[in-house]
Amino acid sequence: AKVTFVTPDQESITVEADSGSVMELAVNNNIQGIDGDCGGVCSCATCHVHVAAGDVTKVGEASEIEQDMLELDDNANEFSRLCCQIEVTEAIDGVVLTVAG
Ligand code: FES
Repeated sequence: AKVTFVTPDQESITVEADSGSVMELAVNNNIQGIDGDCGGVCSCATCHVHVAAGDVTKVGEASEIEQDMLELDDNANEFSRLCCQIEVTEAIDGVVLTVAG
């Protein structure tokens, strides 16, 4: 699936993978602002993204644990996800994710 990241510098970068998490995809491609400090176990929020409004149904909703983490983040809004919790599958092909920084 192809995923487009919009970085804090307003750069738009499209990358592609078949599996793994969206966080891993971002880290592997050095996407600015996605650090993945906790290694993808939903406990650091350094993989916070805002899902484009039209892509929310593709990406799905945050789990309760994820929502609890997001509540601690001032940049969180209704489009927030921790992208280590989003699996790369064809279902998310074409989504646009803005790095929450
Ligand atoms: Fe730590 Fe996603 S990588 S919460």
